[in-house]
Amino acid sequence: MAALAVPLLLPVLTATQHTSATIPGISAYTVTAGFPTSAFPTYWEAPVETQEPQPALYDPVLNITFPLNLTNPETIPTTDNDPIYYPQPLANISNSSTAALLQAAYTNITGIIESNTTASNCTKCMAALNVGKTVAQYAPESVPDLLVKLCEAFQFSSNATCVDNYAAGSFGAIWTQVLALADVTGLDGRYICNDLSSTFCPAPATSPLNVTGLFPKPKPKNACAPKASGKRVKVLHLSDFHLDPRYSAASEANCSAGLCCRTNVHATGDAVGQVTVPAPLYGSFKCDTPYYLGLAALQAIAPLTGTHGNSSVAWTVYTGDLVSHDSQNQLSRAYTEYAEVSVYDLFKEYIGSPVFPVLGNHDSNPEAIDAPHSLPGPLGQQFSWNYNHVASLWQQNGWINSTTANEARLHYGAYSVLNQYGLRIITLNTDFWYRSNFLNYINTSNPDVSGMLNFLIQELQAAEDAKERVWILGHVLAGWDGSNPLPNPTNLFYQIVDRYSPHVIANIFFGHTHEDQVMIYYANNGTVQTSENALTSGWIGPSVTPLTNLNSGFRMYEVDTGSFEIYEAYTWFSNVSSFPHLNVSKTGPTYQFEYSTREAYNISWPEASPLDAKYWQAVTEAMETDFSLVEKFNTFQGKSSVLTPNCTSAACAKAKICYIRSGSAVLGRQCPQGYGSVQSAFDPPST
Ligand SMILES: *[C@@H]1O[C@H](CO)[C@@H](O)[C@H](O)[C@H]1NC(C)=O
Ligand SMILES: *[C@@H]1O[C@H](CO)[C@@H](O)[C@H](O)[C@H]1NC(C)=O
Ligand SMILES: *[C@@H]1O[C@H](CO)[C@@H](O)[C@H](O)[C@H]1NC(C)=O
Ligand SMILES: *[C@@H]1O[C@H](CO)[C@@H](O)[C@H](O)[C@H]1NC(C)=O
Ligand SMILES: *[C@@H]1O[C@H](CO)[C@@H](O)[C@H](O)[C@H]1NC(C)=O
Ligand SMILES: *[C@@H]1O[C@H](CO)[C@@H](O)[C@H](O)[C@H]1NC(C)=O
Ligand SMILES: *[C@@H]1O[C@H](CO)[C@@H](O)[C@H](O)[C@H]1NC(C)=O
Ligand SMILES: *[C@@H]1O[C@H](CO)[C@@H](O)[C@H](O)[C@H]1NC(C)=O
Ligand SMILES: *[C@@H]1O[C@H](CO)[C@@H](O)[C@H](O)[C@H]1NC(C)=O
Ligand SMILES: *[C@@H]1O[C@H](CO)[C@@H](O)[C@H](O)[C@H]1NC(C)=O
Ligand SMILES: *[C@@H]1O[C@H](CO)[C@@H](O)[C@H](O)[C@H]1NC(C)=O
Ligand SMILES: *[C@@H]1O[C@H](CO)[C@@H](O)[C@H](O)[C@H]1NC(C)=O
Repeated sequence: MAALAVPLLLPVLTATQHTSATIPGISAYTVTAGFPTSAFPTYWEAPVETQEPQPALYDPVLNITFPLNLTNPETIPTTDNDPIYYPQPLANISNSSTAALLQAAYTNITGIIESNTTASNCTKCMAALNVGKTVAQYAPESVPDLLVKLCEAFQFSSNATCVDNYAAGSFGAIWTQVLALADVTGLDGRYICNDLSSTFCPAPATSPLNVTGLFPKPKPKNACAPKASGKRVKVLHLSDFHLDPRYSAASEANCSAGLCCRTNVHATGDAVGQVTVPAPLYGSFKCDTPYYLGLAALQAIAPLTGTHGNSSVAWTVYTGDLVSHDSQNQLSRAYTEYAEVSVYDLFKEYIGSPVFPVLGNHDSNPEAIDAPHSLPGPLGQQFSWNYNHVASLWQQNGWINSTTANEARLHYGAYSVLNQYGLRIITLNTDFWYRSNFLNYINTSNPDVSGMLNFLIQELQAAEDAKERVWILGHVLAGWDGSNPLPNPTNLFYQIVDRYSPHVIANIFFGHTHEDQVMIYYANNGTVQTSENALTSGWIGPSVTPLTNLNSGFRMYEVDTGSFEIYEAYTWFSNVSSFPHLNVSKTGPTYQFEYSTREAYNISWPEASPLDAKYWQAVTEAMETDFSLVEKFNTFQGKSSVLTPNCTSAACAKAKICYIRSGSAVLGRQCPQGYGSVQSAFDPPST
């Protein structure tokens, strides 16, 4: 942690060294052919020109070397044998009673589904959950098989998907916990049934939030952001690396289902092993990041951002997701731990500066699941293996100290830290507002079951008292079109942001969507969306992975070290559609400058003013009169991918402006839907 002791030696740019007409480094960087073999000390399979390498990774926390078969493209597993956790049964019943209970429950649920009563789908769904609850309370270990059987019998999905959703080692044991502990005939039941299908229950309304007594102190009058110091540093924002160590060059890149560029998938009409579109060495649109692409991105950072030599990156924010998008039966704790070791090692080696990572929904196992400590008995600690692992890796890499690492171990992998420039960085485990963390469906009326947002309040209050500036880092974005986060927790988050902005919170960062997006937070719950009320911005960082139909990219900010406001934001990308045509024995791919945020939208914005919430408000106001600016934003959203759909209609433009102005799920869901993601054609609901 030497860097903590010598802040004055750290590189600082002065504002005068920079004008917005320049770009920070060279305009394009073409990666040298071949793999940088020095990236890893040893290999099971050394890199060759036609195939991904298999590094032999040593995990310094677990004291093991991950075996080749964990990541070998030819030995992809089909079951996960990690420990699973069931709720304690309310009574110990005999095997014959268990069998009778299961039979009765199956008959009962079948009767509910097939009944011709006038009861609504929502009522029927909750009645079925209530039968499941009895089984979960008395015979918890039998629930997963019952769910798979019901799913298959009623063809809720393909048999394979039924197994992947409900088998014990996938999400079956988690659903058992939910059934046993949730109020399945009340609000929890409505959320669960809405998650199962929006034709079962409509999305529940946001619960009333009592803000009385929420904050330790009232907001200071005339709270305003501190003045800039004029000194600037370069800060890197990387997101959604999604390393695929099982990527197999020349396997099927256009598969019909699952994660492509794997040996176990095929195109529609083909047999496994038959290949219609061979996966390029450097990656493809329906695939996660192969080692060759990940290393290309990391090598491009220094020359493009101009951060080599004595002008280095001051710090890096990593907004989560390291692991590839395998189906749950192919994942395991070991596979997650492997990605954690591999990608953090590479960051340390190629970026050098302190990295402040957050956990993404893919950085857990089962994927997207995290448990609040308040669950009974061992259930409240069922993910500590992961928090212990990442906290130790971050500490060993010198990014956080032992005090902060302990905090992360006890706090869901999230922490609060004062960095070497005096900026407070507070991270969140946003799985606690992610709709796919099924454990969030226990006690849904409480917006903060995990205590994560109370921790945020306490840290922000301490920062206000100490006159510190804060950046908040998370993974799943809190707003936009509202399709990812849950309304109650993000409604609370929005009030917290209002209370501590603009004087404490300088910026907020997320990832998750893989797309380049932004959100504005306003005063008074976003009721009057004007420049005067625009308080802070949420930057959603572009992903390294091309999944799905995107280019690969990353971002660098120039940040004032007095106000910690952003003065410049530069984004780079690599054109994934060019990868099939590369002569890989002669050259790697090119990463190139995409745009400067200050210059892109052509609004008159003083050089001395930061790219803050008022800047973005001005951009959205310009967009309202010139839809071509929305089209530009939309192109950048997909990192200039050739597959990004065009946003040329007024309906699309209005929806995007609304998403940019929506920092919580409840605000986002009030926007016209169907234009949120550029990963496939827009699909507004027909009216
Ligand atoms: C690490 O594991 C090796 C055997 O695989 C063992 O010899 C060594 O003592 C272990 N080191 C620690 C620190 O536990
Ligand atoms: C990999 O090998 C280890 C030990 O050699 C074994 O326990 C494990 O089941 C194997 N995993 C796969 C996916 O084949
Ligand atoms: C069921 O049996 C286990 C093991 O014998 C015991 O620990 C547990 O308390 C029992 N549960 C109930 C509800 O009696
Ligand atoms: C009850 O079932 C379990 C698991 O199926 C089995 O291991 C156990 O032996 C059975 N107990 C009795 C008394 O039959
Ligand atoms: C299902 O069981 C509940 C009680 O647990 C009962 O009230 C209901 O009538 C049963 N429904 C059917 C269709 O058997
Ligand atoms: C419900 O109605 C369908 C068609 O009208 C009929 O085939 C079925 O037997 C009825 N189910 C029950 C449980 O009455
Ligand atoms: C799916 O599973 C059900 C019940 O286990 C079985 O009857 C059916 O044949 C299976 N369907 C397919 C397509 O394999
Ligand atoms: C109720 O659920 C069934 C089965 O999924 C579905 O076909 C039907 O459209 C739903 N009804 C409504 C009103 O959504
Ligand atoms: C809101 O919370 C405060 C403080 O906890 C409490 O005194 C008050 O009764 C609550 N109001 C409502 C309407 O629940
Ligand atoms: C770790 O860093 C924090 C600031 O983020 C500081 O308060 C704490 O004292 C440090 N702990 C150690 C052991 O250096
Ligand atoms: C904020 O606005 C949304 C949407 O209008 C509303 O549902 C929510 O209750 C409001 N939150 C507060 C704390 O007033
Ligand atoms: C979007 O529009 C551009 C220019 O009009 C066109 O070249 C491109 O093919 C369009 N993209 C899609 C996905 O339709």
